[in-house]
Amino acid sequence: MSVWRVKPVSAFEADMKKSDLKRVLTKWGLTSLGIGAIIGGGIFTLTGIAAHDYAGPALALSFVIAGIGCLFASLCYAEFASVLPVEGSAYAYAYGTVGELFAWFIGWNLILEYMMGATTVAVAWSGYFVKLLHLFRVDFPIWLCNDLATATDKCIALGLTPPSFAFNLPALLITWLVTYILVKGIKEAANTNNVIVIIKIAVVLFVIVVGAFYIKAENWTPFIPDKVPIIGEDGIATGKFNFGFGGVLTAATIVFFAYIGFDAVSTQSGEAINPKKDVPFAIIASLIICTVLYILVSLVLTGMVRYDQLDKAAPVASAFSGIGLNWAVFIITLAATAGLTSVMLVMMLGQTRIFLGMAKDGLLPQFFKTLHPKFKTPHKSTVLVGLIVSVVAALTPIDKVSQMCSMGTLLAFAMVCVAVMILRYKKPELERPYRTPAVYVVGCLGVAFNIFLMCFVRKETWFAFLIWGALGIIFYFVYSKRNSNLEKQVVE
Ligand code: ALA
Repeated sequence: MSVWRVKPVSAFEADMKKSDLKRVLTKWGLTSLGIGAIIGGGIFTLTGIAAHDYAGPALALSFVIAGIGCLFASLCYAEFASVLPVEGSAYAYAYGTVGELFAWFIGWNLILEYMMGATTVAVAWSGYFVKLLHLFRVDFPIWLCNDLATATDKCIALGLTPPSFAFNLPALLITWLVTYILVKGIKEAANTNNVIVIIKIAVVLFVIVVGAFYIKAENWTPFIPDKVPIIGEDGIATGKFNFGFGGVLTAATIVFFAYIGFDAVSTQSGEAINPKKDVPFAIIASLIICTVLYILVSLVLTGMVRYDQLDKAAPVASAFSGIGLNWAVFIITLAATAGLTSVMLVMMLGQTRIFLGMAKDGLLPQFFKTLHPKFKTPHKSTVLVGLIVSVVAALTPIDKVSQMCSMGTLLAFAMVCVAVMILRYKKPELERPYRTPAVYVVGCLGVAFNIFLMCFVRKETWFAFLIWGALGIIFYFVYSKRNSNLEKQVVE
């Protein structure tokens, strides 16, 4: 059936040769983009709730578990990137193996990862920016830096009258700044990212080295706190538990968000100087560097402050204010604000490149592949992505969008693990500058891990995810299937 048609590898290679994107990214430039996308809201915010409510000092173990799971997916991404170095990432990999409908579905879900990811980070950015201004005694009105639901909750908690209208102005403005940089050019985007990544790594190292002097070993005991039953709002035990090994696993699903982004490197294949070798290197290197940093930060944090006293909203900054290093709070808040900007930059960049790949195949309108005559960037699609991210970020609570982001990512990771095994089986003869070691074992473990994490996602998110999926399938049959390049070849 035509929905299962597969795009030949030779067609991907022909597309690559015709590409008008500028090839300027080196091995370390790509690695820097990976780190730029990975380190952000996850380590600066989610570590608080993960340790405080679920894992205790075993937060480091949660990071190891989530990191190993991501490593399986990254090894599979790396092999694909070496065979099909095109900008479509998981979408393109599925198109070259499983078939068009599946590829479309993955592309559609990557919108959740990249666009919802950028949206989540825009809201987190606004939170940090407001904190930064507060350090200079400038306070934003609540209605101007939150969505309506969050503003209402905050006002009620403070005993104020809830507003009738609210929107997140800082989230909107940062999205437009990032959009501007992305339209100007890949070189400008990569340079901005490099500066931010240096600041971000410096501050993370600062946290590790300075924090290490304030570790009290007794804070690490017990390493895995005993299970505690969760009591519902009605005062009755829910049958669920915090802490214990189950808590460590739940915390792993939370900190999974902190790893999202290594795969974004694969969307930059069209702009890499030597994509077949450098993209696989950058995917794996950026993930390993961040995993090591994350494990060290979590050991230091839980060693500095007892897990039940960690701040849930800004754990890193408050750990330092807790030991009296108030000047460090300023540096950490500033770095987190800058760091989140680069996550947005790479996420939005990745989204436009996936749209570009899909438009080149005819599955999306031509609009998405129009390049700016001077900057050689897909400017129209970039502005559209900026518009959507800014409006959703200004009006939606962060937890709603972040769960959708994780869901789309988990599905894409699982699919890439399946697809790499299919391609190995169907086309063993293809040249593979990078080969996933023990591919059938790594691939199966990757699928199992990602599906396991999907089981922990909330019911409402599954519901929204199914509606999103149904809309995607409708769009495919109404537009994409008819306009696919492969369809036209069949008809011609
Ligand atoms: N990994 C990215 C972050 O933590 C999405 O912000």
